Amino acid sequence: MKINILPILFISLCLGFATAKYSNIELVKDLAIGSFRVVSGLIEDLYYKTPELTDDAYKSPAEFYQSYGYRFEQHKIVTEDGYILSAWRIPGKLTESFKDISGKPAVMLQHGLLDNSGTFTVGFSNQSLPILLCNEGYDVWITNTRGNFNSFEHTNPKEYSVFDIHSKYWNFTFDSMGYYDLPSNIDYILDYTDNKKLTYIGHSQGTIQFFAGNSIKNIASKVDSFVGLGPVMYVENQRSPIITLLKVSGVSTLLKWLDFNNLLIWPTIVNVSLKSIVRPLRKTVFRFIQMIVGLKKEVSVDLSRMPVMGRHEPGGTNLQNMMHWLQMVVTGNFARYNYGKEENLRVYGQEDAPFYDLEVLKENIKDLDMFLIRGSIDVFVAQEDFDKLLDVLAFKLGTTLNYKVVKDYDHLDYIWADSSYEEVALPVLEFLRNKRANQ
Ligand SMILES: *[C@@H]1O[C@H](CO)[C@@H](O)[C@H](O)[C@H]1NC(C)=O
Ligand SMILES: *[C@@H]1O[C@H](CO)[C@@H](O)[C@H](O)[C@H]1NC(C)=O
Ligand SMILES: *[C@@H]1O[C@H](CO)[C@@H](O)[C@H](O)[C@H]1NC(C)=O
Repeated sequence: MKINILPILFISLCLGFATAKYSNIELVKDLAIGSFRVVSGLIEDLYYKTPELTDDAYKSPAEFYQSYGYRFEQHKIVTEDGYILSAWRIPGKLTESFKDISGKPAVMLQHGLLDNSGTFTVGFSNQSLPILLCNEGYDVWITNTRGNFNSFEHTNPKEYSVFDIHSKYWNFTFDSMGYYDLPSNIDYILDYTDNKKLTYIGHSQGTIQFFAGNSIKNIASKVDSFVGLGPVMYVENQRSPIITLLKVSGVSTLLKWLDFNNLLIWPTIVNVSLKSIVRPLRKTVFRFIQMIVGLKKEVSVDLSRMPVMGRHEPGGTNLQNMMHWLQMVVTGNFARYNYGKEENLRVYGQEDAPFYDLEVLKENIKDLDMFLIRGSIDVFVAQEDFDKLLDVLAFKLGTTLNYKVVKDYDHLDYIWADSSYEEVALPVLEFLRNKRANQ
Protein backbone atom coordinates (compact mmCIF):
# COMPACT_ATOMS: atom_id res chain seq x y z
CA MET A 1 0.00 0.00 0.00
CA LYS A 2 1.46 3.32 -0.98
CA ILE A 3 0.20 6.55 0.48
CA ASN A 4 1.58 9.83 -0.65
CA ILE A 5 2.69 11.60 2.48
CA LEU A 6 2.91 15.06 0.95
CA PRO A 7 -0.81 15.93 0.87
CA ILE A 8 -1.16 14.46 4.36
CA LEU A 9 1.70 16.56 5.63
CA PHE A 10 0.33 19.63 3.94
CA ILE A 11 -3.14 19.22 5.44
CA SER A 12 -1.63 18.53 8.86
CA LEU A 13 0.57 21.58 8.59
CA CYS A 14 -2.49 23.72 7.85
CA LEU A 15 -4.47 22.14 10.68
CA GLY A 16 -1.48 22.50 12.95
CA PHE A 17 -1.02 26.08 12.01
CA ALA A 18 -4.63 26.84 12.81
CA THR A 19 -4.39 25.08 16.19
CA ALA A 20 -1.07 26.59 17.04
CA LYS A 21 -2.27 30.05 16.24
CA TYR A 22 -4.36 30.10 19.35
CA SER A 23 -2.01 28.29 21.67
CA ASN A 24 1.63 29.01 21.01
CA ILE A 25 2.80 32.49 20.16
CA GLU A 26 6.48 31.61 19.92
CA LEU A 27 5.73 28.83 17.47
CA VAL A 28 3.65 31.08 15.28
CA LYS A 29 6.45 33.64 15.31
CA ASP A 30 9.05 31.00 14.37
CA LEU A 31 6.86 29.60 11.62
CA ALA A 32 6.25 33.05 10.23
CA ILE A 33 9.94 33.96 10.27
CA GLY A 34 10.89 30.53 8.90
CA SER A 35 8.37 30.69 6.06
CA PHE A 36 9.45 34.20 5.21
CA ARG A 37 13.07 33.06 5.03
CA VAL A 38 12.15 30.09 2.83
CA VAL A 39 10.22 32.32 0.44
CA SER A 40 12.91 34.99 0.30
CA GLY A 41 15.48 32.22 -0.26
CA LEU A 42 13.33 30.99 -3.13
CA ILE A 43 13.23 34.44 -4.70
CA GLU A 44 17.02 34.77 -4.41
CA ASP A 45 17.51 31.28 -5.85
CA LEU A 46 15.26 32.04 -8.81
CA TYR A 47 16.93 35.37 -9.40
CA TYR A 48 20.49 34.08 -9.55
CA LYS A 49 21.76 31.82 -12.28
CA THR A 50 22.00 28.21 -11.12
CA PRO A 51 25.57 27.61 -10.00
CA GLU A 52 27.55 24.60 -11.19
CA LEU A 53 27.41 21.35 -9.26
CA THR A 54 30.48 20.39 -7.29
CA ASP A 55 32.06 17.11 -8.39
CA ASP A 56 31.22 15.57 -5.02
CA ALA A 57 27.51 15.73 -5.89
CA TYR A 58 28.01 13.06 -8.56
CA LYS A 59 29.98 10.68 -6.39
CA SER A 60 28.85 7.52 -4.66
CA PRO A 61 30.27 7.12 -1.13
CA ALA A 62 33.04 4.88 -2.43
CA GLU A 63 33.90 7.39 -5.16
CA PHE A 64 33.88 10.23 -2.65
CA TYR A 65 36.45 8.65 -0.33
CA GLN A 66 38.54 7.11 -3.10
CA SER A 67 38.71 10.37 -5.04
CA TYR A 68 40.39 11.95 -2.02
CA GLY A 69 42.85 9.08 -1.77
CA TYR A 70 41.21 6.82 0.83
CA ARG A 71 40.27 3.17 0.87
CA PHE A 72 36.57 2.40 1.10
CA GLU A 73 34.84 -0.84 2.06
CA GLN A 74 31.24 -1.73 2.72
CA HIS A 75 30.40 -4.28 5.40
CA LYS A 76 27.19 -6.02 6.39
CA ILE A 77 26.65 -6.47 10.09
CA VAL A 78 23.93 -8.80 11.38
CA THR A 79 22.32 -7.95 14.71
CA GLU A 80 21.23 -10.49 17.31
CA ASP A 81 17.63 -10.02 16.12
CA GLY A 82 18.48 -10.48 12.45
CA TYR A 83 18.63 -6.95 11.07
CA ILE A 84 21.35 -6.52 8.46
CA LEU A 85 23.04 -3.15 8.83
CA SER A 86 25.57 -1.74 6.47
CA ALA A 87 28.74 -0.08 7.66
CA TRP A 88 31.30 1.90 5.71
CA ARG A 89 34.94 1.43 6.53
CA ILE A 90 37.73 3.88 5.73
CA PRO A 91 40.71 1.90 6.97
CA GLY A 92 43.48 4.03 5.50
CA LYS A 93 44.86 5.73 2.44
CA LEU A 94 44.96 4.09 -0.97
CA THR A 95 48.74 4.25 -0.75
CA GLU A 96 48.75 2.14 2.43
CA SER A 97 49.23 -1.61 2.18
CA PHE A 98 47.10 -4.20 4.00
CA LYS A 99 49.94 -4.50 6.49
CA ASP A 100 49.86 -0.75 7.13
CA ILE A 101 46.15 -0.78 7.87
CA SER A 102 46.14 -3.68 10.28
CA GLY A 103 46.47 -3.05 13.99
CA LYS A 104 45.13 0.51 13.95
CA PRO A 105 42.82 1.68 16.73
CA ALA A 106 39.19 1.70 15.61
CA VAL A 107 36.69 4.53 15.74
CA MET A 108 32.96 4.21 15.14
CA LEU A 109 30.83 7.12 13.91
CA GLN A 110 27.10 6.87 14.51
CA HIS A 111 24.66 9.20 12.70
CA GLY A 112 21.47 10.73 14.12
CA LEU A 113 17.72 10.62 13.52
CA LEU A 114 16.51 10.39 9.87
CA ASP A 115 20.14 10.54 8.85
CA ASN A 116 22.62 7.97 7.51
CA SER A 117 26.33 7.40 7.10
CA GLY A 118 26.33 9.78 4.11
CA THR A 119 26.02 12.77 6.45
CA PHE A 120 29.80 12.82 6.90
CA THR A 121 30.31 13.50 3.20
CA VAL A 122 28.09 16.60 3.15
CA GLY A 123 30.83 18.98 4.34
CA PHE A 124 34.06 19.61 2.42
CA SER A 125 36.51 16.73 2.50
CA ASN A 126 38.87 18.84 4.63
CA GLN A 127 36.28 19.02 7.42
CA SER A 128 35.04 15.44 7.10
CA LEU A 129 35.52 13.62 10.41
CA PRO A 130 36.13 10.18 8.85
CA ILE A 131 38.92 11.58 6.70
CA LEU A 132 40.49 13.58 9.52
CA LEU A 133 40.34 10.57 11.84
CA CYS A 134 41.87 8.39 9.15
CA ASN A 135 44.72 10.89 8.77
CA GLU A 136 45.15 10.58 12.52
CA GLY A 137 45.83 6.84 12.16
CA TYR A 138 42.39 5.44 12.96
CA ASP A 139 40.58 2.60 11.25
CA VAL A 140 37.30 4.44 10.67
CA TRP A 141 33.85 2.79 10.68
CA ILE A 142 30.66 4.67 9.84
CA THR A 143 27.65 2.65 10.90
CA ASN A 144 23.97 2.78 9.91
CA THR A 145 21.00 2.13 12.16
CA ARG A 146 18.08 -0.12 11.28
CA GLY A 147 15.38 1.55 9.22
CA ASN A 148 17.59 3.81 7.14
CA PHE A 149 17.88 2.93 3.47
CA ASN A 150 21.43 1.62 3.89
CA SER A 151 20.10 -1.04 6.25
CA PHE A 152 16.90 -2.25 4.58
CA GLU A 153 17.62 -5.95 5.03
CA HIS A 154 16.79 -8.74 7.42
CA THR A 155 17.83 -12.38 7.67
CA ASN A 156 14.14 -13.33 7.65
CA PRO A 157 12.86 -11.21 4.76
CA LYS A 158 9.44 -12.92 4.76
CA GLU A 159 8.35 -11.90 8.24
CA TYR A 160 10.54 -8.84 8.35
CA SER A 161 9.82 -7.44 4.92
CA VAL A 162 10.87 -3.88 4.56
CA PHE A 163 8.24 -3.37 1.86
CA ASP A 164 5.32 -4.33 4.09
CA ILE A 165 4.55 -1.48 6.43
CA HIS A 166 2.87 -3.87 8.86
CA SER A 167 5.74 -6.33 9.01
CA LYS A 168 7.78 -6.98 12.12
CA TYR A 169 10.68 -5.15 10.54
CA TRP A 170 9.13 -1.79 11.42
CA ASN A 171 8.58 -2.57 15.09
CA PHE A 172 11.48 -0.65 16.63
CA THR A 173 12.62 2.67 18.06
CA PHE A 174 16.04 4.00 19.09
CA ASP A 175 15.64 1.64 22.04
CA SER A 176 16.47 -1.32 19.76
CA MET A 177 19.29 0.66 18.18
CA GLY A 178 20.85 0.89 21.64
CA TYR A 179 20.01 -2.65 22.67
CA TYR A 180 20.78 -4.53 19.41
CA ASP A 181 22.47 -2.39 16.74
CA LEU A 182 25.05 -0.75 18.95
CA PRO A 183 26.52 -3.90 20.56
CA SER A 184 26.43 -5.81 17.26
CA ASN A 185 28.22 -3.01 15.44
CA ILE A 186 30.83 -2.69 18.18
CA ASP A 187 31.44 -6.45 18.42
CA TYR A 188 31.81 -6.75 14.66
CA ILE A 189 34.29 -3.88 14.45
CA LEU A 190 36.36 -5.09 17.40
CA ASP A 191 36.45 -8.59 16.00
CA TYR A 192 37.34 -7.45 12.48
CA THR A 193 40.06 -5.03 13.55
CA ASP A 194 41.32 -7.17 16.40
CA ASN A 195 40.88 -4.42 18.98
CA LYS A 196 39.64 -4.74 22.58
CA LYS A 197 37.98 -1.33 22.66
CA LEU A 198 37.03 1.40 20.27
CA THR A 199 36.36 5.12 20.22
CA TYR A 200 32.71 6.05 19.79
CA ILE A 201 31.49 9.26 18.18
CA GLY A 202 27.72 9.75 18.15
CA HIS A 203 25.62 12.54 16.73
CA SER A 204 22.25 13.26 18.35
CA GLN A 205 20.26 9.96 18.25
CA GLY A 206 23.69 8.36 18.08
CA THR A 207 24.13 9.53 21.69
CA ILE A 208 20.69 8.67 23.11
CA GLN A 209 20.96 5.11 21.80
CA PHE A 210 24.26 4.82 23.64
CA PHE A 211 22.68 6.08 26.89
CA ALA A 212 19.60 3.88 26.43
CA GLY A 213 21.59 0.75 25.56
CA ASN A 214 23.96 1.22 28.50
CA SER A 215 21.10 1.66 30.93
CA ILE A 216 20.02 -1.90 30.12
CA LYS A 217 23.31 -3.70 29.52
CA ASN A 218 26.99 -2.92 29.69
CA ILE A 219 28.21 -1.86 26.29
CA ALA A 220 30.55 0.88 27.51
CA SER A 221 33.16 -1.63 28.68
CA LYS A 222 34.07 -2.06 25.00
CA VAL A 223 34.44 1.67 24.45
CA ASP A 224 37.46 3.65 25.58
CA SER A 225 36.26 7.13 24.78
CA PHE A 226 32.93 8.67 23.88
CA VAL A 227 32.32 11.85 21.90
CA GLY A 228 28.76 13.23 21.83
CA LEU A 229 27.86 15.82 19.20
CA GLY A 230 24.54 17.46 20.07
CA PRO A 231 24.06 14.93 22.92
CA VAL A 232 20.50 14.17 23.98
CA MET A 233 18.84 12.39 26.86
CA TYR A 234 15.98 14.79 27.55
CA VAL A 235 14.12 16.72 24.85
CA GLU A 236 11.16 18.29 26.65
CA ASN A 237 12.40 21.80 25.92
CA GLN A 238 13.27 21.33 22.26
CA ARG A 239 12.35 24.34 20.16
CA SER A 240 12.28 23.02 16.63
CA PRO A 241 9.48 24.87 14.84
CA ILE A 242 8.43 21.84 12.76
CA ILE A 243 8.63 19.37 15.65
CA THR A 244 6.67 21.71 17.89
CA LEU A 245 4.11 22.01 15.12
CA LEU A 246 3.85 18.22 14.93
CA LYS A 247 3.39 18.15 18.69
CA VAL A 248 0.62 20.72 18.88
CA SER A 249 -1.12 19.73 15.66
CA GLY A 250 -1.58 16.10 16.60
CA VAL A 251 -0.16 15.01 13.24
CA SER A 252 1.10 11.81 14.87
CA THR A 253 -2.47 10.89 15.79
CA LEU A 254 -3.48 11.53 12.22
CA LEU A 255 -0.71 9.33 10.85
CA LYS A 256 -1.52 6.64 13.38
CA TRP A 257 -5.13 6.80 12.41
CA LEU A 258 -4.07 6.20 8.82
CA ASP A 259 -2.09 3.25 10.14
CA PHE A 260 0.89 4.68 8.40
CA ASN A 261 3.50 2.71 10.20
CA ASN A 262 6.70 3.72 8.59
CA LEU A 263 8.38 6.50 6.72
CA LEU A 264 9.71 4.06 4.16
CA ILE A 265 8.58 6.10 1.19
CA TRP A 266 10.01 9.25 2.68
CA PRO A 267 13.55 8.73 1.46
CA THR A 268 12.29 7.61 -1.93
CA ILE A 269 10.05 10.61 -2.46
CA VAL A 270 12.48 13.05 -0.97
CA ASN A 271 15.34 11.42 -2.85
CA VAL A 272 13.74 12.10 -6.20
CA SER A 273 12.42 15.54 -5.42
CA LEU A 274 15.48 16.68 -3.48
CA LYS A 275 17.84 15.78 -6.28
CA SER A 276 16.02 17.85 -8.84
CA ILE A 277 15.11 20.70 -6.51
CA VAL A 278 18.35 21.11 -4.66
CA ARG A 279 20.53 22.11 -7.57
CA PRO A 280 18.73 25.35 -8.50
CA LEU A 281 17.10 25.91 -5.10
CA ARG A 282 19.89 25.42 -2.59
CA LYS A 283 19.08 28.36 -0.34
CA THR A 284 15.39 27.44 -0.27
CA VAL A 285 16.16 23.84 0.67
CA PHE A 286 18.68 24.87 3.31
CA ARG A 287 16.25 27.30 4.90
CA PHE A 288 13.55 24.66 4.95
CA ILE A 289 15.95 22.33 6.77
CA GLN A 290 16.54 25.17 9.21
CA MET A 291 12.84 25.15 10.05
CA ILE A 292 13.50 21.69 11.47
CA VAL A 293 16.93 22.15 13.06
CA GLY A 294 16.65 25.78 14.13
CA LEU A 295 16.34 29.20 12.58
CA LYS A 296 19.36 31.39 12.43
CA LYS A 297 20.38 34.23 10.24
CA GLU A 298 23.94 33.29 9.36
CA VAL A 299 24.36 30.59 6.76
CA SER A 300 27.32 28.64 8.08
CA VAL A 301 26.92 25.69 5.75
CA ASP A 302 28.42 26.28 2.30
CA LEU A 303 25.45 26.16 -0.06
CA SER A 304 27.53 24.52 -2.79
CA ARG A 305 27.34 21.41 -0.55
CA MET A 306 23.52 21.24 -0.67
CA PRO A 307 23.46 19.09 -3.84
CA VAL A 308 25.90 16.72 -2.11
CA MET A 309 23.44 16.58 0.76
CA GLY A 310 20.68 15.84 -1.77
CA ARG A 311 22.76 12.93 -3.04
CA HIS A 312 22.86 11.23 0.38
CA GLU A 313 19.95 12.43 2.50
CA PRO A 314 17.62 11.70 4.17
CA GLY A 315 18.21 8.23 5.57
CA GLY A 316 14.67 7.61 6.82
CA THR A 317 13.25 5.88 9.87
CA ASN A 318 9.87 4.56 11.01
CA LEU A 319 6.89 6.24 12.58
CA GLN A 320 7.26 4.29 15.84
CA ASN A 321 10.69 5.80 16.37
CA MET A 322 9.34 9.28 15.67
CA MET A 323 6.52 8.58 18.14
CA HIS A 324 9.05 7.54 20.77
CA TRP A 325 10.82 10.87 20.33
CA LEU A 326 7.51 12.68 20.48
CA GLN A 327 6.62 10.86 23.72
CA MET A 328 9.87 12.12 25.21
CA VAL A 329 9.07 15.66 24.09
CA VAL A 330 5.59 15.48 25.61
CA THR A 331 6.41 13.71 28.90
CA GLY A 332 9.89 15.11 29.43
CA ASN A 333 11.03 11.64 30.53
CA PHE A 334 13.92 9.47 29.43
CA ALA A 335 11.77 6.36 29.16
CA ARG A 336 11.20 3.34 26.95
CA TYR A 337 8.60 3.31 24.20
CA ASN A 338 5.04 3.54 25.44
CA TYR A 339 2.96 0.96 23.54
CA GLY A 340 -0.19 1.70 25.54
CA LYS A 341 -1.33 0.00 28.75
CA GLU A 342 -2.18 -3.47 27.48
CA GLU A 343 0.85 -3.93 25.29
CA ASN A 344 3.11 -2.38 27.95
CA LEU A 345 1.92 -5.06 30.39
CA ARG A 346 2.86 -7.75 27.91
CA VAL A 347 6.22 -6.25 26.90
CA TYR A 348 7.41 -4.71 30.20
CA GLY A 349 5.19 -6.40 32.77
CA GLN A 350 3.82 -3.02 33.89
CA GLU A 351 1.24 -0.56 32.63
CA ASP A 352 3.58 2.37 32.09
CA ALA A 353 6.67 2.49 29.95
CA PRO A 354 9.61 2.09 32.36
CA PHE A 355 12.21 4.81 32.74
CA TYR A 356 15.70 3.99 31.56
CA ASP A 357 17.68 2.98 34.64
CA LEU A 358 20.08 5.84 35.27
CA GLU A 359 21.84 3.99 38.09
CA VAL A 360 22.74 1.15 35.74
CA LEU A 361 23.84 3.68 33.12
CA LYS A 362 26.04 5.55 35.61
CA GLU A 363 27.66 2.35 36.80
CA ASN A 364 28.38 1.27 33.20
CA ILE A 365 29.92 4.55 32.10
CA LYS A 366 31.63 5.56 35.33
CA ASP A 367 35.16 5.08 33.93
CA LEU A 368 34.41 6.08 30.36
CA ASP A 369 36.15 9.21 29.09
CA MET A 370 33.51 11.48 27.62
CA PHE A 371 33.57 14.69 25.64
CA LEU A 372 30.35 16.47 24.70
CA ILE A 373 29.87 19.31 22.23
CA ARG A 374 26.70 21.37 22.26
CA GLY A 375 25.71 24.20 19.90
CA SER A 376 24.41 27.27 21.73
CA ILE A 377 21.35 27.53 19.44
CA ASP A 378 20.80 23.81 18.91
CA VAL A 379 17.00 23.53 19.17
CA PHE A 380 17.20 19.82 19.98
CA VAL A 381 19.67 20.33 22.81
CA ALA A 382 18.04 23.16 24.74
CA GLN A 383 20.01 24.58 27.65
CA GLU A 384 17.53 23.18 30.22
CA ASP A 385 17.70 19.68 28.73
CA PHE A 386 21.48 19.74 28.44
CA ASP A 387 21.66 20.79 32.12
CA LYS A 388 19.52 17.77 33.01
CA LEU A 389 21.93 15.52 31.12
CA LEU A 390 24.87 17.12 32.94
CA ASP A 391 23.07 16.51 36.25
CA VAL A 392 22.95 12.81 35.47
CA LEU A 393 26.64 12.81 34.57
CA ALA A 394 27.65 15.31 37.29
CA PHE A 395 29.75 12.74 39.17
CA LYS A 396 32.08 12.60 36.15
CA LEU A 397 32.37 16.33 35.47
CA GLY A 398 35.92 17.62 35.36
CA THR A 399 37.44 14.15 35.62
CA THR A 400 36.09 11.78 33.01
CA LEU A 401 33.64 14.22 31.46
CA ASN A 402 34.30 17.49 29.69
CA TYR A 403 32.15 19.53 27.40
CA LYS A 404 32.31 22.46 25.06
CA VAL A 405 29.62 24.88 23.88
CA VAL A 406 29.97 26.25 20.36
CA LYS A 407 28.42 29.65 19.84
CA ASP A 408 25.67 29.87 17.20
CA TYR A 409 25.78 26.20 16.26
CA ASP A 410 22.59 24.33 15.43
CA HIS A 411 21.91 20.61 15.26
CA LEU A 412 23.62 19.88 11.93
CA ASP A 413 26.50 22.33 12.20
CA TYR A 414 28.70 19.87 14.14
CA ILE A 415 29.12 17.99 10.86
CA TRP A 416 28.01 20.30 8.05
CA ALA A 417 29.14 23.82 9.02
CA ASP A 418 32.17 25.39 7.34
CA SER A 419 33.74 26.09 10.70
CA SER A 420 33.24 22.52 12.00
CA TYR A 421 36.92 21.85 11.30
CA GLU A 422 38.00 24.40 13.91
CA GLU A 423 35.02 24.16 16.24
CA VAL A 424 34.44 20.41 16.33
CA ALA A 425 37.04 18.30 14.52
CA LEU A 426 40.13 19.93 16.07
CA PRO A 427 38.85 19.75 19.68
CA VAL A 428 37.76 16.14 19.13
CA LEU A 429 41.16 15.16 17.72
CA GLU A 430 42.82 16.97 20.63
CA PHE A 431 40.66 15.07 23.13
CA LEU A 432 41.54 11.75 21.48
CA ARG A 433 45.26 12.60 21.34
CA ASN A 434 45.32 13.43 25.04
CA LYS A 435 43.51 10.22 25.78
CA ARG A 436 46.02 8.17 23.80
CA ALA A 437 48.98 10.02 25.32
CA ASN A 438 47.75 9.08 28.79
CA GLN A 439 47.36 5.40 28.02
C1 LIG B 1 38.30 23.44 2.97
O1 LIG B 1 38.07 23.47 1.58
C2 LIG B 1 37.23 24.55 1.14
C3 LIG B 1 36.94 24.34 -0.36
O2 LIG B 1 38.06 24.00 -1.06
C4 LIG B 1 37.89 25.87 1.47
O3 LIG B 1 37.04 26.92 1.06
C5 LIG B 1 38.14 25.94 2.97
O4 LIG B 1 38.83 27.11 3.30
C6 LIG B 1 38.94 24.73 3.47
N1 LIG B 1 38.97 24.73 4.91
C7 LIG B 1 40.06 24.44 5.62
C8 LIG B 1 39.91 24.45 7.10
O5 LIG B 1 41.14 24.19 5.11
C1 LIG C 1 18.22 7.61 -4.48
O1 LIG C 1 18.52 7.64 -5.85
C2 LIG C 1 19.69 6.93 -6.26
C3 LIG C 1 19.84 7.05 -7.76
O2 LIG C 1 19.52 8.30 -8.22
C4 LIG C 1 19.59 5.48 -5.84
O3 LIG C 1 20.80 4.82 -6.14
C5 LIG C 1 19.32 5.40 -4.35
O4 LIG C 1 19.14 4.05 -3.97
C6 LIG C 1 18.07 6.19 -4.00
N1 LIG C 1 17.85 6.16 -2.56
C7 LIG C 1 16.65 5.86 -2.04
C8 LIG C 1 16.58 5.92 -0.58
O5 LIG C 1 15.69 5.60 -2.72
C1 LIG D 1 7.58 -5.31 19.11
O1 LIG D 1 8.83 -5.37 19.78
C2 LIG D 1 8.70 -5.61 21.18
C3 LIG D 1 10.06 -5.42 21.82
O2 LIG D 1 11.12 -5.83 21.02
C4 LIG D 1 8.10 -6.98 21.38
O3 LIG D 1 8.03 -7.26 22.75
C5 LIG D 1 6.73 -6.97 20.76
O4 LIG D 1 6.15 -8.25 20.89
C6 LIG D 1 6.82 -6.60 19.28
N1 LIG D 1 5.47 -6.45 18.75
C7 LIG D 1 5.09 -7.01 17.60
C8 LIG D 1 3.72 -6.72 17.17
O5 LIG D 1 5.84 -7.72 16.94
